[in-house]
Amino acid sequence: MSEEDAGLKEESPSREVETPVDPGIVAVASDSSRAASVDRRSSSMEPAGNLENQLVLLSVFYQGKPLKLPGTHDHIHKVVFRILKNVCGLVSHLALHFPEGWDKEKPDNETILTLTKLFNRIAKPFASNWSGSYNTDVLGDWGQRQCSQKVAMEITTYAYECAVPRPADLNTYYKSFTSETYGETNLEQMASIIDELGIGSHDVFVDLGSGIGQLVCFTAAYAKCRKSVGIELSQIPANYAKNLGGHFKQLMAHFGKSHGRFEHHQGDFLNPKFKKLIIEEATVIFINNFAFSPDLMFRITNELLQDLKHGTRIVTTKPFGAHKKDITYRSTGDINSISDTRELTSLEYGVSWTAKQVKFWLTTMDHTKLIRYYEAERQKKLEPKSREGSDEVNEREKKTKKRKNGKESDGECSSSNTSQNGKKKDKKKKVSAAGTAVFTASTGALFPSKYYK
Ligand SMILES: C[S@@+](CC[C@H](N)C(=O)[O-])C[C@H]1O[C@@H](n2cnc3c(N)ncnc32)[C@H](O)[C@@H]1O
Repeated sequence: MSEEDAGLKEESPSREVETPVDPGIVAVASDSSRAASVDRRSSSMEPAGNLENQLVLLSVFYQGKPLKLPGTHDHIHKVVFRILKNVCGLVSHLALHFPEGWDKEKPDNETILTLTKLFNRIAKPFASNWSGSYNTDVLGDWGQRQCSQKVAMEITTYAYECAVPRPADLNTYYKSFTSETYGETNLEQMASIIDELGIGSHDVFVDLGSGIGQLVCFTAAYAKCRKSVGIELSQIPANYAKNLGGHFKQLMAHFGKSHGRFEHHQGDFLNPKFKKLIIEEATVIFINNFAFSPDLMFRITNELLQDLKHGTRIVTTKPFGAHKKDITYRSTGDINSISDTRELTSLEYGVSWTAKQVKFWLTTMDHTKLIRYYEAERQKKLEPKSREGSDEVNEREKKTKKRKNGKESDGECSSSNTSQNGKKKDKKKKVSAAGTAVFTASTGALFPSKYYK
């Protein structure tokens, strides 16, 4: 298995070769001459990047690569403007040649293109001045190679905005009142889950029903999981996810940030081709199942959850397991008998479809739970023999005596008694026969015999 197949390879930005400083370009324009110098410079000293129909932004981040985006879309211009505001907010003199009040207005595409050209002139020598260091002193969080929560959120949001021009359209593509109903988990909520569960580079994160894939990218950036994978059934959001993934990669490279490996797949997560990933590889599974049908919930439980590895964690918006800790005879086939479920911290505005708080749940697979239950049951069965004088033993002795005294003849045994006793015996048989397999009427779940041995 290659290093990449094993998911051990971390994706990091490749090194950019910096061009030498051109002092003429960084000459400071006076306020009055600013606008004039803008035009002259943009026509005569075009950086190689500003090709026709392309917006290019040079990177001021260590190991950062130029950002090249199609310059034909309004929404892309808006994202580039937001990046300019962000970066010039960190290092104000990058905006030296910008017109006064540039950041207060809503510029048109032409103006944004001009700003990128001006920015690039300063950015190039500026970045090469500190080549070889991350410059956290100047850039703060943005100067680090690892994404902080804030940086991961910001970059993922840029990627989202590049990939999804009109988020409102997503509602029209999705089928309402079905398992494919649209809804997103907000990045802040996802960050809270990552922190609470301590998700990190040792984890394989899988989002079952990943929509446009923003959580997969965010997890790759913030938690730097060994692998983050999204599986989405509907073609349109799955296409957005691929697009979002492409922008995310480019943006991470631009900001000089490393991230974990990630993949977006289109398909049904119940398809056997995903089973190995889900059953054998995943350590954290995310399912925003708030709108999933009971039938889909049932299939997820029976076709996926019950086969998960011990310790696998499943985050959901509708709990699979109950809070009950104790297993009873009737619940031995429930998912609860091989897992524990608890509530997670849920934020206000944690999801896109309501301002109300939606609860998030954590189910952790615990295969020792059922084994412990059967061991306790076995002990209970052994115990009465040594419990001389207990009610159960006394009752049994009384019955034996009665039989011996001939008071309880065969003929006296009413048919109802016989069947009642018979039933009781059958029930006991069922418990002891549980060593082979258990089927419960409550969920219909059938668990493999490995849990009962
Ligand atoms: C509410 S969205 C959640 C999107 C994303 N996980 C989030 O929380 O932001 C649920 C997604 O599950 C998808 N879905 C439903 N059934 C599915 C299946 N069997 N296989 C893959 N995706 C499915 C829907 O199409 C929908 O995009």
